[in-house]
Amino acid sequence: MSKAVTVSSLQEMKRQGEKIACLTAYDYSFASVLDAAGVDLIMVGDSLGMVIQGYDSTLPVTLEDMAYHSHCVASGCDRAILVVDLPFMSYQIDPEQALESAGVLMKQGDAQVVKLEGGAPMVETVRFLVERGVPVCAHLGLTPQSVHQLGGYRVQGKDKDSAQRILDDARAMEDAGAAMLVLEAVPAKLAKEISHALTIPAIGIGAGKDCDGQVLVLQDMLGIYPKPSPKFSRNFMQGSDSIARAIENYVAAVKSGRFPAAEHSF
Ligand code: KIV
Repeated sequence: MSKAVTVSSLQEMKRQGEKIACLTAYDYSFASVLDAAGVDLIMVGDSLGMVIQGYDSTLPVTLEDMAYHSHCVASGCDRAILVVDLPFMSYQIDPEQALESAGVLMKQGDAQVVKLEGGAPMVETVRFLVERGVPVCAHLGLTPQSVHQLGGYRVQGKDKDSAQRILDDARAMEDAGAAMLVLEAVPAKLAKEISHALTIPAIGIGAGKDCDGQVLVLQDMLGIYPKPSPKFSRNFMQGSDSIARAIENYVAAVKSGRFPAAEHSF
């Protein structure tokens, strides 16, 4: 078994220019397949509200749901690092609430890093968590928990002001001690600028090929989600004779820079 992935080894991969291959998972069996296929980072996303529970958004997902699925996934992670979403309204009230919720994910769910959505208003919370020993991944760009405020699942940072705001937020998150970022649905040019500006890894989803790593929702990349998948995803079952092979092909495509191609980017 190769050495377990840690926050510092992810940062070292960025320094060495090795792309970080990430996928979501929500249970033990898939987590084991991902881990064996060389996925570096497994994310228990609150996307489980959509792909596991069948809701139209991530908003109904509870902290208990996240802790349960995280615990299941943790049993399948020998090498990959486990990053788990704080669900809607489990951290937005104040930093103390965020710390309590992070504690649940780490103690009951075996999370190694917790992820939260939002820019400037979340900086104090990120600092509060990090100072208390909680590694944090900040999610910027399209933040699905704000879907009603954003008016839909839309590309963010398309104009100069909003692009500058996302870049400023990314820098502020790094300064606050975030261990890594997720950049979702932002123009490839902006994601490139952010990835170059930071020393922490920026993991892209619909953010172009120049991010330090890539993540997709497992059900999208296996082509089994019954609703339309986003433009930035690719069905890796096409041309693969098994799920394990599809995951290996994804890892190889990310590591070699073949995924995402221009057609998966904005
Ligand atoms: O909820 C989720 O699965 C996510 C990732 C896809 C970034 O936030």
